[in-house]
Amino acid sequence: MRYTTSGESHGRVLTAIVTGVPAGIPVDQSAIDSDLARRQVGYGRGGRMRIETDTASILSGVRFSRTIGSPVALAISNRDWDNWTDVMSVQGEPIDSVRVTAPRPGHADLAGVLKTCSNDVRDVLERASARETAARVAAGAIAKAFLRQVDVEVGSFVFSIGGAAMDTPLDASEVDPSLVEASDVRCPDAEASVRMRAAIDAAHTDGESLGGLFYVTATGLVPGLGGYAEAASRLDARLAAAAMSIPAIKGLEFGDGFAAAKRPGSQVHDAIAHDGPRGFYRKTNHAGGLEGGMTNGEPLIMRLAMKPIPTLMRPLASVDLDSHEVIDASKERSDVCAVPAAAVVAEAEVALVLADSYLQKFGCDCVEDIVTALRAYESRIRS
Ligand SMILES: Cc1cc2nc3c(=O)[nH]c(=O)nc-3n(C[C@H](O)[C@H](O)[C@H](O)COP(=O)(O)O)c2cc1C
Repeated sequence: MRYTTSGESHGRVLTAIVTGVPAGIPVDQSAIDSDLARRQVGYGRGGRMRIETDTASILSGVRFSRTIGSPVALAISNRDWDNWTDVMSVQGEPIDSVRVTAPRPGHADLAGVLKTCSNDVRDVLERASARETAARVAAGAIAKAFLRQVDVEVGSFVFSIGGAAMDTPLDASEVDPSLVEASDVRCPDAEASVRMRAAIDAAHTDGESLGGLFYVTATGLVPGLGGYAEAASRLDARLAAAAMSIPAIKGLEFGDGFAAAKRPGSQVHDAIAHDGPRGFYRKTNHAGGLEGGMTNGEPLIMRLAMKPIPTLMRPLASVDLDSHEVIDASKERSDVCAVPAAAVVAEAEVALVLADSYLQKFGCDCVEDIVTALRAYESRIRS
């Protein structure tokens, strides 16, 4: 299962095409829109999120609420497009007065215009903007619909925003999703949520922005997804590439991650146990569900670091593209903090990789056959 997206931040529409989708996945429009809504909420989001309520139109690949084995195309209209028809006109001549010439530090702006020989940062920022991640979330909802058929649930929650963090240790795979969704910073700890909101308020007042840490988890995974024999088949490498493809994600840990590098092996590796009905299992999950490039049957635990939003209301210095004079970096309408939203985008990326891993191992064209193969595998490895 693969996806590609198209669309600019203020263009007419975003699209996602998901290929490699097996037939027989129940697709519920409201589940796609619910994930789009989860990406849009969050304390610290900018004005854009109040203008738009994203819904995805399913253009192909689904009939009578089930996938039919063909590519699934999804479209999300940009409701703000009506206000941008001149600036984002598909035809005609460039309008000099709307050019953006002050690239923002921390964004794709400067390297993008240099690379593409453009004199207008908008040519770059329209696509580099994380608005594109709405299309990823729609694509990820198809992967999640498949994963539900094989009893896998993907979730996420925010651990810290700026310096405001939850207490550790916690078992990330046991976090109650209803507590996460009840918090407008998507943090299951009510007391930490208050501190996170206060940190966002302070950043807003100061014209600042904030990043943070969040977890992505997946439960119900069978052991043996991914592979140890080829670099490209290692699941940790594929998950890392997917996570790092999200704008502003700068770091990633699996399981105990960097903390494990300080401890001796006996306190890092997870002793192997077995019992009749359950088969092989671990009493601890320091590894975060991955060993040797494969799932080991324990929950997948990933922790991602997001850098602060680059667009600052109190901008850093930049240099004008035309005059080379020092000026303030441009100010697009912007979020102060998008960590809660980034976590939902990461769920989509992780779901797409995990769905693809199931299809590689258990077959790829019919959900019924995939589930039959999966049950046979589960039965074999239990005995
Ligand atoms: C969900 C989400 C929302 C974002 N919102 C904004 C925003 O409003 N303003 C902004 O300047 N950057 C925003 N970003 C971050 C930029 O997209 C990102 O920092 C930029 O692409 C450069 O990051 P990079 O160096 O990792 O590519 C957002 C990122 C995500 C994942």
